[in-house]
Amino acid sequence: MNQPIVFSGAQPTGQLTLGNYLGALRQWTAMQHDHTCIFCVVDLHALTVRQDPAAFRERILDLAALYLACGIDPERSVIFIQSHVPAHAELAWLLSTFTMMGELDRMTQFKDKARSHAHNVNAGLFTYPVLMAADILLYGTHKVPVGEDQKQHLELSRDVAVRFNGLHGPIFVVPEPLVTGGGAARIKDLQDPLKKMSKSAEADLAKVMILDEPDAILKKFKKAVTDGLGSIRNDEANQPGVVNLLNIWRAARGASMEEALTHFSHNQYGRLKVETAEAVIDLLDPVRQRFTELRSDPAELEGVLTRGAEQAMERAEAMMQRVLSALGLPLNPRRFGPTQGRS
Ligand code: TRP
Repeated sequence: MNQPIVFSGAQPTGQLTLGNYLGALRQWTAMQHDHTCIFCVVDLHALTVRQDPAAFRERILDLAALYLACGIDPERSVIFIQSHVPAHAELAWLLSTFTMMGELDRMTQFKDKARSHAHNVNAGLFTYPVLMAADILLYGTHKVPVGEDQKQHLELSRDVAVRFNGLHGPIFVVPEPLVTGGGAARIKDLQDPLKKMSKSAEADLAKVMILDEPDAILKKFKKAVTDGLGSIRNDEANQPGVVNLLNIWRAARGASMEEALTHFSHNQYGRLKVETAEAVIDLLDPVRQRFTELRSDPAELEGVLTRGAEQAMERAEAMMQRVLSALGLPLNPRRFGPTQGRS
């Protein structure tokens, strides 16, 4: 009952890779056992980039189904769609008045995105981290599993929480980052093993997607870049491609580097590639099958997401009541019930 609260989310943009699975989703599912977990499809964040409405709606449901297929258990955790809970956008407004322009201006992700989306530098792109702070602070979150690239945003969430609490009393829990991505940082591009495997990589052969069919996975591993040294050793500097395959194999099989080196002491790259592909197929095939089932039953998925939104809303509304009261805003009795005798 008194387990720490975990909140995390991903944007419904683009498909997720094996790196996302090993670095994020697998960690999320593991945390369900000893944390109260809240997992969100952050569709409002994705609107900072233009979306085609019909495709967007499908991608939001795809990501929710993928969470479930990866093992997020709606009996244990709260899984929901951000836009189903209006308090996210509402709290983002309130928190924007506790966030300084200078703080947002320092965000490296904003600077990067403003450069890469120069034709659409909308205000939402600038205030993106405030919406993220609202996501997190709304649930009294203790820990936030995020990739390295989100650490700065989390720092801002902490600063905003501390500033608000300093002025209005201890309303928000100050969240701790839990930098995951050990796995994702380790999983490299199959064509350029010096780079992290990224969902935005251009080359199809560079990345394994969570929903790839087995034959596509096999083909990608067979064509993975290695080297001409003909030995299978843990020598990252000289054999980044081989080490990447070893890391993927052992992440998928749950083995240590020592075990991997013993297993592949035959030094045959062909066998390393095929066995790594097989290990990944064993890992991802059940996920893809479950995903396909979930996506062919819209009523079930909708039921899970409606229940998730109800659970999220119950928590969010309790927090909104405290925040609005702390700020001196009169509570709407239609929303919070009669306020007689309440301070
Ligand atoms: N900004 C995060 C990303 O791009 C997604 C996100 C939005 C998030 N709100 C969050 C992650 C709250 C953790 C907690 O990866």
